[in-house]
Amino acid sequence: MAINDDKRVIIFDTTLRDGEQALQSSLSPKQKLQIAMILDQLGVDVIEAGFPISSPGDMEAVRLIGQNLKNATVCGLSRAVDKDIDACYEAMKGLDHYRIHTFIATSDIHVQDKLKKSFDDVVEMAVRAVTRARKYTDDVEFSCEDAGRTPIDHLCRTVEAAIKAGATTVNIPDTVGYTLPYEFGNIIKSLFDRVPNIDKAVISVHCHNDLGMATANSLTALQNGARQIEVAVNGLGERAGNCSLEEVAMTIKTRSEYMGGLYTGIVSTNIARASQVVAGVCNEPVPPHKAIVGSNAFAHSSGIHQDGVLKNRSTYEIITPESVGFKENNLHMTARSGRHMIKSCLASLGYDESTYDLDDVYARFLKLADRKGQVFDYDLEALLFFSPDKEEE
Ligand code: KIV
Ligand code: ZN
Repeated sequence: MAINDDKRVIIFDTTLRDGEQALQSSLSPKQKLQIAMILDQLGVDVIEAGFPISSPGDMEAVRLIGQNLKNATVCGLSRAVDKDIDACYEAMKGLDHYRIHTFIATSDIHVQDKLKKSFDDVVEMAVRAVTRARKYTDDVEFSCEDAGRTPIDHLCRTVEAAIKAGATTVNIPDTVGYTLPYEFGNIIKSLFDRVPNIDKAVISVHCHNDLGMATANSLTALQNGARQIEVAVNGLGERAGNCSLEEVAMTIKTRSEYMGGLYTGIVSTNIARASQVVAGVCNEPVPPHKAIVGSNAFAHSSGIHQDGVLKNRSTYEIITPESVGFKENNLHMTARSGRHMIKSCLASLGYDESTYDLDDVYARFLKLADRKGQVFDYDLEALLFFSPDKEEE
């Protein structure tokens, strides 16, 4: 995939691969296709649709998705072994364009205790894997698994070798979500300072959220030269999840100036729908307080906040719900709500202030809210017609 604009951030979505790995039950090829079509409309650039060697279902899903995408590039994952790379080719052969993503771990703990190999063996396997994948496609991504804990000299050596072998994207995963933003930014900066052929590939990052740093680490990587971010809708993914698509997309859009004018191809007004479809198909409800897509993300409860929002939404909303595809913000009527909020709700229900006594309705509203927690439109309307005595019954 050729994007020749230094400000454009490539969005690589792994909801269907890393995200799916974390689900209680796997998705069928048709369910994966349904999500892939939504991701395509959302404007993601690359869709990692699965791990073809892992199961016939994943092989079929990658094939099916590749045949149906309109804009995004399909990608299959493979370990740095021949049979995995060949399975990716099997799943995607015949398509005009596709990506093979191959990876091997580079940190000492993974190389020694998991792979039981020497670091030299790992570099050799990486080169062999990239070379083999390049025979099938000119779009090859190589990942240094656990890059966040890899000694920087080893990381530079692997990245340089992978690019020399033909990798067009090199991914630097913080596989276990261990690094801090400043630290991760420095890793990316060191690669740009030290790897001689670094400008021949797109540098990507893939951050996990074990310490809640995935979005911050990804954005810091962009500020240090990375131009692809790997994400999942609703932050789905192994353990605490992957970097959230909606968080990076909306941060880059909202704070573009601070981010040096970077931008993505994400159609932000499709975000809410993508979030809801992924949550529904994956049976993974979105936590209410999840940034951007949680049901509380645009709700205002305190009277001071509600009063501010009613006067000017920007007082407490840095982005509008409409900009991510929600219909409207949500002003919860609670015991913290003020008179202004009650008057405004009654007006939207068609009741002019001249037809009721605001002090009286407000006093009764507070009693009800203390008892009930959240008060709904129909409760408020009922208050207009019930006497306080009757209400106490
Ligand atoms: O977290 C990770 O390192 C991965 C790789 C396969 C990119 O998911
Ligand atoms: Zn991952």
